[in-house]
Amino acid sequence: MLRVKNLYAGYGKTDVLHGVSFEVKVGQCVSLIGANGAGKSTTLKCITGLLPSRSGSIEFEGVSLERLPGHQIVRQGITMCPEGRQVFGGMSVLENLKMGAHTRRDANEADDLSEMFEMFPVLRQRASQMAGTLSGGEQEMLAIARALMSRPKLCIFDEPSLGLAPKIVQEVGETLARIKARGTTILLVEQNAKMALGLADHAYLYEAGEIVLEGSGTELLSHPEVSKAYLGH
Ligand SMILES: Nc1ncnc2c1ncn2[C@@H]1O[C@H](COP(=O)(O)OP(=O)(O)OP(=O)(O)O)[C@@H](O)[C@H]1O
Ligand SMILES: [Mg+2]
Repeated sequence: MLRVKNLYAGYGKTDVLHGVSFEVKVGQCVSLIGANGAGKSTTLKCITGLLPSRSGSIEFEGVSLERLPGHQIVRQGITMCPEGRQVFGGMSVLENLKMGAHTRRDANEADDLSEMFEMFPVLRQRASQMAGTLSGGEQEMLAIARALMSRPKLCIFDEPSLGLAPKIVQEVGETLARIKARGTTILLVEQNAKMALGLADHAYLYEAGEIVLEGSGTELLSHPEVSKAYLGH
């Protein structure tokens, strides 16, 4: 579904990605893990059109994404649930959800809203509350639901568990598993390697802008390098 090949990218004079290659197959959950500053979010910015790559290719369902503007990438079926949630704080929960559907041309918004309220009952209770006043965990649920409102084929998550209590992290993990079970393909970036590898069909380990290890989630969970550096064993 998604094929990233030999991707180079950076900011100004700084190079961040040095030839990253990976792929995501239809229906999979693929996780990218690695230390702070390794280039995971930079990779996601290239895929979603927020940062032009320097070289390499990004192909989604056979279409080259490198030259497409962000809104057209969304139209191809890719939506990102960004790092730090970034809900529209001065808008209600309901308005945030509707914003998630704004790139769609079909008119089944009402159906999708009820589906999201079913999946996230807390959002129904708080539909008219300003998003900025939700708790961190509630904001994460809203960010996830907003992303799903565009009916993506591929949904990209950047650190959905960041700053959340362990119980809520577990809830986020269960939510991602349900999203996958509904048939949405997932690309997940996570500091929480245990959660990311537990969910992953396939995973890649980043180190300083390169992929240094790949394998199934289970393989990486038991890999000595991963368990020492990221699982604290
Ligand atoms: N807008 C920017 N301008 C300049 N440098 C940037 C910018 N965004 C990121 N960087 C740098 O690029 C490098 C990779 O950052 P990136 O955000 O991709 O890391 P990451 O793997 O997502 O890390 P984390 O797990 O901490 O989110 C870092 O050294 C960072 O300082
Ligand atoms: Mg990041």
